[in-house]
Amino acid sequence: MNLNYLIIENLQERAEFIRKELAKEFNLNSLIAIPIYSENEFIGVCDKKKTELSPSLAVQIARVFETKKSIAKIQELLRLIDISDDAIIVLDEEDKVLFWNQGAEKLYGISKMDALGKNINKILSYSYEAIKGKLISKRKWIGEIEQRKSGGERILVGSFMELVKNEEEEGYKIFIRNTDITFIRRLQEQLNRAQKLESIGNLASGIAHDLNNIFTPKNIDIKIEISGELHPILGDPTSINQVLLNLCVNAKDAMPNGGVLTIKVENVYIDEDYAKWNPMSKVGDYVVITVADTGIGIPKDVMDKIFDPYFTTKGEKGTGLGLSTVYTIVKEHEGFINVYSEEGKGTVFKVYIPAISNHKNKKEEDRKEISEKKSYVLVVEDEKHIREIVKDMLERNNLNVLLAENGKEAVKILEKNKELINLAIVDYNLSDVKGDVLIGEIKAMLPELKIILMKNKQYSCR
Ligand SMILES: Nc1ncnc2c1ncn2[C@@H]1O[C@H](COP(=O)(O)OP(=O)(O)OP(=O)(O)O)[C@@H](O)[C@H]1O
Ligand SMILES: [Mg+2]
Repeated sequence: MNLNYLIIENLQERAEFIRKELAKEFNLNSLIAIPIYSENEFIGVCDKKKTELSPSLAVQIARVFETKKSIAKIQELLRLIDISDDAIIVLDEEDKVLFWNQGAEKLYGISKMDALGKNINKILSYSYEAIKGKLISKRKWIGEIEQRKSGGERILVGSFMELVKNEEEEGYKIFIRNTDITFIRRLQEQLNRAQKLESIGNLASGIAHDLNNIFTPKNIDIKIEISGELHPILGDPTSINQVLLNLCVNAKDAMPNGGVLTIKVENVYIDEDYAKWNPMSKVGDYVVITVADTGIGIPKDVMDKIFDPYFTTKGEKGTGLGLSTVYTIVKEHEGFINVYSEEGKGTVFKVYIPAISNHKNKKEEDRKEISEKKSYVLVVEDEKHIREIVKDMLERNNLNVLLAENGKEAVKILEKNKELINLAIVDYNLSDVKGDVLIGEIKAMLPELKIILMKNKQYSCR
């Protein structure tokens, strides 16, 4: 085959190159030359004396070099795309896989070999069709999709898809980037679940983290005092968290030059004298959450209005809804709030939430109505504090309660008290047996007994 041009390298060392001196003078190492053929046989290269390198040829040669450079660049880019942790996939109009990177191989457990040229709907079982419709109308799609690995394992991916049109070609291609978010989502779910089961004490320390974030640039010391054995209360952790946060943010705002923020949680008994003095309260056990600051304090004429919705002294910066929300939540929990403040010295908010045992007093009348004749309930639950909360709640409704820590104990108690027990409440996750298995055993023994299975319980606060 005849060549249009030749690249001659290492000029300065080549024995056959006769102009070595010239090459050295101009520090030339390589040369492009036009080869000369005679009857298809290469006989040498032309030099300047015989012919000029035509300008059009020079342009062509330059192009060749540029193309070579861009190909190298593209190859480098492809290499980077290939080793990315994300799955990167390109599809044609018929949903066939044109590109499948190493990230996709890892994420789905499907090799390039197995993926290329195949229809995406056949390799990944998800409704790509529905998304494709949106892609064609909107060009882009971002969302989360549940997919399966080749082994069947379910994964959740954050997906970015784009319809790409090349002006030189007809039709379009679909670019897909999928990121595995299964782990992160599971972690979030666990965190949410854990938060729901947390005691107020833990909540307080939990929000210490939030608070640290709020307070980092300020010179504020946070002190947290939580007494050991707190009474159980009946409450919604998210709301209680909200109460704490709103009070703490107010405390922060009241200490622009720094100070001390104290959060305290303790048990308090309200006696008859106190209850007479404070009509919002009733005699009995309470859990008290104190949020105290050493800030600017609340002037007397402002004090009357602080719980009013939209009342704020912070101008544009405040909505005036913080304390009215606190008030509503505390009222929902049948509690009350006390505020002490001295201008220039600081403010103390005390939130009183009745302990579970304290609901007894007010609910006395209701209870009588609910049940005249005594019934027995068996509670099978391995977590001590939950067992006690359930017992307490049932007793408030005038029911007799028998407690079992595990499946074995439950069976024993049932055998002994067959005639007495009307209802069994069984936790799903017992230490020795799964709740549904235990229910099977109980049903075999007492087919008539009514049973409640507790699954995914969301106990409020300890
Ligand atoms: N710890 C505190 N020290 C001094 N003043 C307070 C304190 N807590 C509340 N206040 C006063 O009560 C007002 C109402 O508080 P609230 O939390 O309802 O609204 P806000 O804090 O002004 O606005 P937002 O809660 O939307 O930031 C505040 O504007 C402030 O004047
Ligand atoms: Mg506020």
